[in-house]
Amino acid sequence: MNSAAAPLLFTPITLRGVTVRNRVVVSPMCQYVSVDGGPTDWQFVHFGRYAMGGAGIVFGEETAVEARGRKTYHCAGLWNDYQARAYRRITDFIKEMGAVPAIQLGHCGRNAGSHGAMEEWRALDERDARAGMPPWRGLAPSPLPARRGFPVPIEMDHDDIRHVLAAFRDAARRATDAGYDISEIHGAHGYLIHQFLSPVSNRRTDAYGGSRENRMRFALEVAETVRAAWPQDRPLFFRVSAVDGKGGLWGLDDTVALAHELRARDIDLVDCSSGGISGESDMALVPRVPGYQVPYASRVRRETGIMTMAVGLITEPAQAESVLQEGHADLVAMARELMIHADWPLRAAKELQAGHYDLMAPSIAHRLRRRDEQAVAHAPGSTVEIPISADRRETYRWQ
Ligand SMILES: Cc1cc2nc3c(=O)[nH]c(=O)nc-3n(C[C@H](O)[C@H](O)[C@H](O)COP(=O)(O)O)c2cc1C
Repeated sequence: MNSAAAPLLFTPITLRGVTVRNRVVVSPMCQYVSVDGGPTDWQFVHFGRYAMGGAGIVFGEETAVEARGRKTYHCAGLWNDYQARAYRRITDFIKEMGAVPAIQLGHCGRNAGSHGAMEEWRALDERDARAGMPPWRGLAPSPLPARRGFPVPIEMDHDDIRHVLAAFRDAARRATDAGYDISEIHGAHGYLIHQFLSPVSNRRTDAYGGSRENRMRFALEVAETVRAAWPQDRPLFFRVSAVDGKGGLWGLDDTVALAHELRARDIDLVDCSSGGISGESDMALVPRVPGYQVPYASRVRRETGIMTMAVGLITEPAQAESVLQEGHADLVAMARELMIHADWPLRAAKELQAGHYDLMAPSIAHRLRRRDEQAVAHAPGSTVEIPISADRRETYRWQ
């Protein structure tokens, strides 16, 4: 392939000490199949196939830094060494396939104690308690329940804040033992960090509430804590809800201000998502047009100079390439389309003529290259002579 014409999507990028083979990122995706926070064979296969499919970076799921920071009993976690060791099998395989394994560290705060996505995160109740899954109270900046049916969360005092910061620090250290090369702090989707940022869920009157500067304090302390615990030669991302979404109060100007502060704290990239906190203002849901969150990544990048990742209904190779070419983002993340086509990066590389065989496991690529070498051009409907013995041939009409 002519490198002068190489699409940006398939041009390697170096982030601190980590070189990524292309700019297609598997966005974090919760699976709700963990056992005691540790992964099962499902995660090995599910995340492994994205690495085989040619992605540059393969994120796992939102991974809770402490047990009570899980949404469900089946969420992934990284609060003990057993879990760290169990992820190693997955991260080793992802690396073997040429991709970079990444982890998203999170704490769900007041959203604790629910069922999974298939039940729209319905709160656990008495029936679940009788079945051995009692609800528990989450932590939050203010004693406001996440939604109807959720218990009033514990309003965090300064000891609680220190405890959660320590849990983020310990999980970041374990993430290195688990073999991850990129880490992301989950500051979006209405979970604990976002609960501090948004006035919808933060009604505090101390140094962590009130002004925007105060509401950003917890997020920035998490960023500083994880940055200090995470190796200097490895990149650290931060996912934001660039706007609260329906009924919210946190907006893009706030996100730009946060991104400036994150950059000052050595965060490498802002991953621009949206939504998750629903309040009662007139803010609308972001319309689900293709690339619906790209404008957020674009403005954060333009106004702060920090790298960004765009995500949200990016499904076509040319679309992904133009997000990068037009300077809206440095990386493109995808989730749902990859669930249909785990090998989307290979197909995109083929379509953009970017050397798709180079992204495959060598044993597979070898056989496909041989197939290409042996192929004989043949128009459908024309005839072909095929040997049926040492001295005889027959004519077939090729379909
Ligand atoms: C099955 C599934 C699980 C998800 N879990 C997470 C998660 O753990 N953390 C997160 O930040 N976003 C999560 N998301 C959101 C995705 O990362 C992504 O931002 C969103 O799906 C939009 O991208 P898409 O249009 O390419 O799917 C999840 C999405 C899906 C479909």
